[in-house]
Order: sequence, then structure tokens, then C-alpha cells
Amino acid sequence: MLIVVGSRRDGNCSILAQKVKETLDKERIHCEIITPGNQKIHLCTGCMDCDKNGVCDFTDDMKDNIELINQEEVIMFITPTRWNLLSGDLKIFMDRLNPLYSTQGLKGKKLIAVAIGAKDKNLYSSESALTSLLSFGESAKMECIYDYQFDHCLNANDILNQEQELNEFINQVKTLVS
Ligand SMILES: Cc1cc2nc3c(=O)[nH]c(=O)nc-3n(C[C@H](O)[C@H](O)[C@H](O)COP(=O)(O)O)c2cc1C
Repeated sequence: MLIVVGSRRDGNCSILAQKVKETLDKERIHCEIITPGNQKIHLCTGCMDCDKNGVCDFTDDMKDNIELINQEEVIMFITPTRWNLLSGDLKIFMDRLNPLYSTQGLKGKKLIAVAIGAKDKNLYSSESALTSLLSFGESAKMECIYDYQFDHCLNANDILNQEQELNEFINQVKTLVS
């Protein structure tokens, strides 16, 4: 499994990714984490060259990222909710996956979509963040196998206050990828 973390800070998204990895490591299930915001990734210019040949003109960290995606069957996106939406880092990453659109390189891969926000679930703030991840998956012809929202996570490690929810989520992921 590949986990793509949408926040640069050592916060809730990163903590969740590490916890999932720790559990999967114990089960000897391969799991890698990347944080595109901490990588060198050019912005997509929209030149559309990749629609012709499935290759981006830029040489940067997306080359290795796309190789990783090609190898993995399950991709988990974890986005912080920002202005009710997904993070800019994840959107930049997604745009640069366009070389895989023409080759249908994401088709049939399994998607786990997670949004983490500060507000209460009743305020529906993370809904659009999650919907944008799911919409990306649908457009890429991925198969969404699980989606989840964590709320009440404002400070960097607030997610650790929700131990039961955290453990249930991790167990569900483990079951799905075992
Ligand atoms: C620019 C910005 C915008 C945000 N907008 C929202 C929002 O619309 N709704 C929400 O619930 N939380 C919002 N938050 C809070 C983050 O979603 C929350 O702190 C989350 O846990 C961040 O994940 P991280 O700890 O991995 O960085 C925002 C945070 C930032 C920095």
C-alpha cells in the first residue's frame, strides 16, 4: 500500500499514516508513506503533452512517485481539510498524475480516502474534502474501498485523543488490505 499524506506538518495526517504503517509492518504487509509537500514537484502547466505519450516533460520527484503507484495495488490519500477542501499539496500531486490518465494506470487500483478536519462532523466541513478525493478516484477509474472522516482535530496531535476511533479505522484498513 502507498499512503499519500496531504499535510507537511508533523500532525494528524502524518500520525495517522505512521500508525497505519506500524500496524501493517507487523502483519508484513508492504506500506510506504510519501508527503508530496516535502518533495520537489513542479506545478502542472496543463501542456497536455502527457496525454499524447503518457510522460511528463518535468523531471522531478513525481517520476519515483508514479513508479511507486504503478507497483502498489492500494493507495490511501489522507488530506487535511482546508477551507472545506482537500489540501493544495494533494491537488498539485493529483494534477501531476495526469500521465497515468491516458495510460489508464490508475484503473482498478483500490482507493482509501481520508479527510481530517478541526470542525464537528455536523458542520459538514470535511465532506467536500472527502468528496474531492473520491471524485479524483472516480475520474481515474479507481475502486474506492473505504472512506473516512476524522473530526475535532485542530492541533497537531489531536487525533491521538480519539484512540478508539483511530484503532477501529486502522483495524478496518488492515482487514481490507490483508
Ligand atoms: C489553511 C487552513 C484551512 C483550514 N480549513 C479548515 C476547514 O475548512 N475545516 C476544518 O474542519 N478544519 C480546517 N483546518 C484545520 C485542519 O484541517 C486541521 O488542523 C487538520 O487536523 C490538519 O491536519 P494536519 O495536522 O495533518 O496538518 C484548516 C487548517 C488550515 C491550515
